[in-house]
Amino acid sequence: MINPLRGMKDLTFEESARFVHIITTAISISKKYGYSYIETPILEETGLFKRSVGESSDIVGKEMYQFEDKGGNDVCMRPEGTAGIVRAFVSAKLDRQPVKQKFYYYGPMFRYERPQKGRLREFHQFGCESFGEASVYEDFTIITMISQIFDALGIGFDLQINSLGCPECMPPYKQNLVGFLRETQEELCEDCNRRIGTNPIRVLDCKNQTCQSLLTNSPKLMDNLCGECDTDFKKLTDLLDKADIKYKVDTNLVRGLDYYSKTAFEFVSNEIGAQSAIAGGGRYDKLVEFLDGKPTPAVGFAIGIERIMELVQMPEVKREGIYLGAMIEEAVETLFPIATAKRLEQKVTLEYNSKGFKSHMKGADKVNAKYCVLIGEDELKNGTIWVKDLESKEEKTVLLEEF
Ligand code: HAM
Repeated sequence: MINPLRGMKDLTFEESARFVHIITTAISISKKYGYSYIETPILEETGLFKRSVGESSDIVGKEMYQFEDKGGNDVCMRPEGTAGIVRAFVSAKLDRQPVKQKFYYYGPMFRYERPQKGRLREFHQFGCESFGEASVYEDFTIITMISQIFDALGIGFDLQINSLGCPECMPPYKQNLVGFLRETQEELCEDCNRRIGTNPIRVLDCKNQTCQSLLTNSPKLMDNLCGECDTDFKKLTDLLDKADIKYKVDTNLVRGLDYYSKTAFEFVSNEIGAQSAIAGGGRYDKLVEFLDGKPTPAVGFAIGIERIMELVQMPEVKREGIYLGAMIEEAVETLFPIATAKRLEQKVTLEYNSKGFKSHMKGADKVNAKYCVLIGEDELKNGTIWVKDLESKEEKTVLLEEF
């Protein structure tokens, strides 16, 4: 028997129903915010992720499904969706159009991580990317939209927010931070020592306890934001307060991808164990330009579908559609045109074997049909059909052409 690869899984029955419910709920809400569907390839040039997610990030440095294809190209299974969508946005020259563009997407992402609860090597995201809107109002709107999606799915969350500054305030802050880190370098873990040279702000979210305690007195970017970033962040917290969306400012929230500036956020759940982030995102105003497009502000997020799967409150399953059956062999084929016509508007379960009454009733119950519809000897002779509403228990015999 061949099993799926480590860290990858099949979704069937209960889980696939949950998956579909999550995706359809998220799509329906994001459409109301003006998002339309975008699909980009799963396989991309490795350079795309190196340039956008960042060479020093764990995702690019350690976790890529990277290989040479038969043509000798260095390719990679996408570890996240944003980079590919920005590439598509630039490829289609959408950066030259004056209108704002908003896209939603969902699909598999691949990261070669050590599998554990909530951490897979193939997982699925639902995400949105909004291009061309520089206002912090858009950051607020996106956070509101994610809250609405989680509310609609019955999922509780904590929201953490931070500002990662901009090219004006981040570089001097980084220098400041590096100065501080160099003084405590010997006590920091090996990874953090490497990060001082490659990406010092990643030290801030190191999970090592010693590193965290050494950081208590580190300089905080929040205290060193430039005027514009500071005003935007205050505006964001003000809007969240007014909308009664609870949040916590976490000055160590830096995100694992290098493309962010200004607003960064994470939604976490305390019900799913160590891998508690259920969604993450933020602003990435420089990425379009960085991938050779015209400067275009942008903001987006992605929800981790597998992480919220067990948290979702599924709607009550209602009886639905028609169960169609014949009680004599000669009537079976008369059911096909009926099924085809009814399938234009509702679910039809067609039983190919002629059976007794009780057996059909059981069958209708098993598929949770609302109606059990049968043709027996009398019905076939009279051109009628027997219909029972399994909710109201009402039953009747009607002419076939009136059914
Ligand atoms: P991310 O934080 O790397 O952001 O991933 C988003 C979500 O995907 C996480 O919050 C988590 O729920 C889920 N996730 C990540 N890795 C795994 C894994 N190994 N197994 C299961 N679930 C996982 C991004 O990917 C950005 N592209 C989000 C974004 C969009 N930022 C701006 N636009």
